[in-house]
Amino acid sequence: MACLPCFYMSIHFLFLYLSCQPIDAHILSRSVKPLCLEDEMSALLQFKERYEIANVSGGPLAHPKTLSWKNSQDCCSWDGIECNENTGHVIVLDLGSSFLYGSIDNNSTIFRLAHLEKLNLGNNHFNYSQIPSRVGDLPRLTHLNLSASFFSGQVPSEIFKLTRLVYLNLCCNLDPHHDRPLLEMKAPGLRRLSQNLTGLEELLLSLVNMSSQVPNTLANLSSLRRLNMDECDLHGIFPPAIFHLPKLQYLSVDHNEDLTGRLPNFNSSSPLKELQLGGTSFYGELPASIGNLRSMEILNLQFCNLTGSLPRSMGNLPLLSYLGIGCNNFSGFIPASFANLSNLEYLDVGKNPFTVQPTSSLSCVWKIKKLATLNLWRINLYGEIPPVENLLS
Ligand SMILES: *[C@@H]1O[C@H](CO)[C@@H](O)[C@H](O)[C@H]1NC(C)=O
Ligand SMILES: *[C@@H]1O[C@H](CO)[C@@H](O)[C@H](O)[C@H]1NC(C)=O
Ligand SMILES: *[C@@H]1O[C@H](CO)[C@@H](O)[C@H](O)[C@H]1NC(C)=O
Ligand SMILES: *[C@@H]1O[C@H](CO)[C@@H](O)[C@H](O)[C@H]1NC(C)=O
Ligand SMILES: *[C@@H]1O[C@H](CO)[C@@H](O)[C@H](O)[C@H]1NC(C)=O
Ligand SMILES: *[C@@H]1O[C@H](CO)[C@@H](O)[C@H](O)[C@H]1NC(C)=O
Ligand SMILES: *[C@@H]1O[C@H](CO)[C@@H](O)[C@H](O)[C@H]1NC(C)=O
Ligand SMILES: *[C@@H]1O[C@H](CO)[C@@H](O)[C@H](O)[C@H]1NC(C)=O
Ligand SMILES: *[C@@H]1O[C@H](CO)[C@@H](O)[C@H](O)[C@H]1NC(C)=O
Ligand SMILES: *[C@@H]1O[C@H](CO)[C@@H](O)[C@H](O)[C@H]1NC(C)=O
Ligand SMILES: *[C@@H]1O[C@H](CO)[C@@H](O)[C@H](O)[C@H]1NC(C)=O
Ligand SMILES: *[C@@H]1O[C@H](CO)[C@@H](O)[C@H](O)[C@H]1NC(C)=O
Repeated sequence: MACLPCFYMSIHFLFLYLSCQPIDAHILSRSVKPLCLEDEMSALLQFKERYEIANVSGGPLAHPKTLSWKNSQDCCSWDGIECNENTGHVIVLDLGSSFLYGSIDNNSTIFRLAHLEKLNLGNNHFNYSQIPSRVGDLPRLTHLNLSASFFSGQVPSEIFKLTRLVYLNLCCNLDPHHDRPLLEMKAPGLRRLSQNLTGLEELLLSLVNMSSQVPNTLANLSSLRRLNMDECDLHGIFPPAIFHLPKLQYLSVDHNEDLTGRLPNFNSSSPLKELQLGGTSFYGELPASIGNLRSMEILNLQFCNLTGSLPRSMGNLPLLSYLGIGCNNFSGFIPASFANLSNLEYLDVGKNPFTVQPTSSLSCVWKIKKLATLNLWRINLYGEIPPVENLLS
């Protein structure tokens, strides 16, 4: 309470000071947060007017952010907007899951927001528009999210000018009627990308039709933590160096039937947590060094062309919760070390030509405490399966 009078006094003083002095930008920037700039506010309002609000966004957090935008207010306080505290320039436009429906082109007023660092338009409906090539005129972008928003056509090469990107998400632009990818990034797209966007940490390109090989240069992206290229129509040999990227935790190239390669020798320094190669043509044996992947949680190798016996070292994966090796050409026995997979919840070993297994050889499996799903479909078994209360299937 004692401070209240001083508070009034300082406001009063500031007012007098400002009103008797020529405006001094230095003082202003210290005492008053700048409001958003007029031109940027009008760009945002014009963008808002361009779109219908329609039921096109799913998910619990979806809501029509632009509906609350009103001309009379400081646009820096609007839902989905953040400004630079010193300059007032809009630096974040997050309109993910905002029920926006309508097309977008090079003339969109968002390209007047030249200071944007993060742009998220994911989970809306841009009515099969091409990605406007002027997105390349937002040179400060570090985050670009155009996922699941009905963009179509060729990814413009201007995106490769955005050399500051750390996050690029073009995934899941899917034609709902034909279940086919809408976006294409034909060669040399991926090579250009890996030559220019060298700071990328997350690259999410699932369902972008590339119809190409994976260039070795992708392994130059040494900051990558997450790489997802499911269903991209990739073919040829997957560059082994990508497995060894020092920060890579999530690698998924599921459902690229013509993509092939062997699993490399894994180093115990590997941070891999998730490796998804399901529905590819990876072949050869699992290296014993797979037991070095101490961080591994999800390992999906279903529907590949892998052979040989399962290495005993697979029991050394303490965090493994999902192991899918069904529909391959594995032979031999299920290693007894599987009993040590104390976090395993899902195990699919089905449809492999294992040696005939007496059910006693599976006693290791019954010892996995957390196991909730077990697929033994079409493996050679004989004997009785013991009753196990906590097994569901
Ligand atoms: C919105 O769309 C979803 C799926 O497309 C549908 O299940 C839901 O009923 C729709 N909601 C409204 C309010 O129309
Ligand atoms: C979406 O595109 C279709 C076909 O080009 C067009 O008829 C329709 O008016 C567009 N809808 C919107 C909201 O732009
Ligand atoms: C963009 O605006 C210019 C000039 O206003 C116009 O000539 C052009 O047709 C517009 N392009 C699109 C794709 O709307
Ligand atoms: C990108 O958009 C998708 C779809 O709306 C969303 O699930 C994801 O969380 C977004 N990612 C970021 C980093 O905003
Ligand atoms: C945007 O403009 C460029 C040329 O400035 C043109 O090549 C491109 O096709 C246009 N893209 C869209 C989506 O309108
Ligand atoms: C790569 O980045 C440089 C520098 O920003 C740019 O001049 C060049 O056009 C970019 N290459 C591609 C393929 O976009
Ligand atoms: C991807 O593009 C190629 C060549 O353009 C085409 O033959 C193929 O059908 C496309 N794949 C999908 C899944 O649409
Ligand atoms: C990128 O990778 C290629 C081939 O893998 C290599 O020759 C080149 O030196 C690498 N460039 C950089 C900058 O690391
Ligand atoms: C594992 O990788 C680290 C860092 O890349 C390297 O220093 C070490 O020699 C490698 N160890 C083996 C056994 O390859
Ligand atoms: C699987 O491997 C076998 C021999 O190793 C080869 O004959 C067959 O073509 C491969 N199948 C696929 C789908 O790659
Ligand atoms: C399965 O593996 C065996 C060797 O264990 C090999 O002889 C056979 O060709 C493989 N079959 C296929 C379809 O790859
Ligand atoms: C399970 O792990 C323990 C401790 O690392 C080890 O002593 C034991 O031999 C392992 N069991 C099997 C069946 O590999």
